[in-house]
Amino acid sequence: MATLADSRIEFTRLPHPAPVTTAERAQAIADPGFGRVFTDHMVSIEWSEGRGWHDATLGPRGPLSLDPAAAVLHYAQEIFEGMKAYRLDDGAMALFRPEQNARRFNASADRLAMPNMPEDTFVEAVRLLVLADREWFPPVDGGSLYLRPFMFASEAFLGVRPAKQYKFLVIASAAGNYFKAGVPAVSIWVSRNYTRAAPGGTGAAKCGGNYAASLVPHANAVARGHDQVCFLDAAEHKWVEELGGMNVFFVFDDGSIVTPPLTGTILPGITRDSLMTLAREEGLDVREERYAIDQWRDDAASGRLVECFACGTAAVVTPIGRVAGEDGEFTVGGGGPGQLTGALRAKLVAIQRGTAEDRHGWVTRIG
Ligand SMILES: Cc1ncc(COP(=O)(O)O)c(C=O)c1O
Repeated sequence: MATLADSRIEFTRLPHPAPVTTAERAQAIADPGFGRVFTDHMVSIEWSEGRGWHDATLGPRGPLSLDPAAAVLHYAQEIFEGMKAYRLDDGAMALFRPEQNARRFNASADRLAMPNMPEDTFVEAVRLLVLADREWFPPVDGGSLYLRPFMFASEAFLGVRPAKQYKFLVIASAAGNYFKAGVPAVSIWVSRNYTRAAPGGTGAAKCGGNYAASLVPHANAVARGHDQVCFLDAAEHKWVEELGGMNVFFVFDDGSIVTPPLTGTILPGITRDSLMTLAREEGLDVREERYAIDQWRDDAASGRLVECFACGTAAVVTPIGRVAGEDGEFTVGGGGPGQLTGALRAKLVAIQRGTAEDRHGWVTRIG
């Protein structure tokens, strides 16, 4: 676990002049949903060429002042991470594999020609924010603090080249359940017209541009009554890649599991990696293999495919019940939550909540 002493940079703490009142906070976090209730504080660190990272602060959350020529506003040089702080059963707070988020952040930074953030500074920034905003955990089942570290090009310059100034920030948001409460399985729309990422593109990076490009297909999915969009590969429009913000898994009647391989066009999910480890520990055959949309339909019809699910930090593990596209729709298994999906979810959540043994050192206690 990173501590303040490990971190290469000193954080200055700026006092908050007017944090929200206890009553206002209680009201805000009673039913926070996802991504709309923000905490009192934020972390901010500056980077400039020749000086590196400097001016690290933990202070009041508030609007940024940005030059209208800031490169991010024109060329979208921006990356982010998404992670959660959990409350363990014993009351302590914890992060789940935060060093993996730090590592993926730097992989994204490399792809977007941005400076790397030392992993211990990244984790320390997140830890300090959680400690400052510890009162913001929502008192709801599955409640957590969703943490959003991000970095963008702040240099005022309109030439197209990597910027020479960046801002790194971490904000936090009280989070309940990602999907509407009580939804047993989600319904997805497979997009044939739009793709998310092409070979050689930025699909494996967590950059804002990927998500901007997914908004129209996502809106189309929602307009047709589905919860999420599912993307196919850009070259053949055949191979299942991932959802707008989640990786996918397929469970077969022989107990084996398949998930699309990390070929550079999908995000290497930390939940995906954790579930593969847990499933293999159970003795299951887990394969990273391409899986075609037509095969998906045929296997669902024949019963060879018994379950499928989506996974990610925000949605944890969510069964996919219904799959629709231009050529019709089909149901997987009984259309509801499958047994293995439920078991894997329970196992992961138990580790995250501290009720199951943390054999891999995934849980970082933060006080
Ligand atoms: C496109 C995409 N795929 C997959 C994931 C799942 O990644 P993780 O499990 O690290 O949250 C996310 C969420 O961050 C995502 O945005």
